[in-house]
Amino acid sequence: MAVSKIAVLGAGLMGHGIAQVAAQFAKTEVYLTDAKQELLDRGVKMIESSLERFVKKGDLTTDESAKIRSRIHPVTSLGDAVRDVDLVIEVVPEDIELKRRLLSEVDRKIRNDTIIASNTSSLSITMLAKATRRTEKFCGMHFFNPPQLMKLVEIVRGNKTSDETVQVVKELAERMGKDPVVVKKDAPGFIVNRILVPALNEAIALVQEGVADPADIDKAIKLGLNWPMGPLALSDYIGLDTVLAMSNVVSKATKQGRGTALLRKMVKSSRLGRKSGKGFFDWPEKGG
Ligand code: 3HC
Repeated sequence: MAVSKIAVLGAGLMGHGIAQVAAQFAKTEVYLTDAKQELLDRGVKMIESSLERFVKKGDLTTDESAKIRSRIHPVTSLGDAVRDVDLVIEVVPEDIELKRRLLSEVDRKIRNDTIIASNTSSLSITMLAKATRRTEKFCGMHFFNPPQLMKLVEIVRGNKTSDETVQVVKELAERMGKDPVVVKKDAPGFIVNRILVPALNEAIALVQEGVADPADIDKAIKLGLNWPMGPLALSDYIGLDTVLAMSNVVSKATKQGRGTALLRKMVKSSRLGRKSGKGFFDWPEKGG
């Protein structure tokens, strides 16, 4: 099956970018939905400003940008979004109960042959799949932030995912301009977050212990390891609430990377990084 229509559930930091790359590179029709009109409007705005950046750079003409935008259909009704699509990509916050409730509802509203992929960053694909009656047509499709620029997609098998599902989702990822890898076993954090999350928590522990200032910790890792962003700026960029949610899952498997006390304190006081305007650093362009 070649995917030509998709639904993206969640228009936030990741969802808007995933919807955009599907419309921009894979040229699929995209039904984008979120729980509230204002969240959907914000997601559409982020897509439009990202398209503008591509136009400014000369990577897209205004005509091409308008065509891409016209392939994205923002809808508030979940039923309208998923009714006739080939693939649903779930991109809602990392709350297993929220995801399972939504997935079970979606499962009842879609065609029998529709595949569901979750962009979860660390939750078990097998557990999420069990909320549906299509465990063989369910897999992880994990994008990296910002989805418009990052080349990797992890395609994660649950314990019942069929080879055909993996093949269809892999082909779509390639049409989106991505270079996917297949994660054969559903392990917490998959590949990248299993390695990244302990590293982010160690950087936060260095702040907590007063070992160095945040700017110097980031400078050390940028210059010493050639990361494009230091671990604290990257944590702000991902969202500290997401980093904490990932830490809670990954630490169970690795016994490392537990959400540090400082991370928990910052999330509790809504200091979430770029999305709230303040994290380890100030982010004047909130959510940009
Ligand atoms: N849409 C379109 N273009 C964009 C864009 C967007 N959303 N964001 C940035 N750009 C463009 C800019 O216009 C700029 O173009 P130019 O080179 O022609 O001027 C170019 O990309 C570079 O952007 P910036 O100058 O703003 O900043 P940087 O040079 O620092 O690049 C970055 C930004 C690509 C995000 C880079 O800093 C980077 O690679 N950071 C690390 C990102 C990373 O590690 N992501 C993975 C996080 S982990 C994850 O996502 C897992 C999940 O489970 C949490």
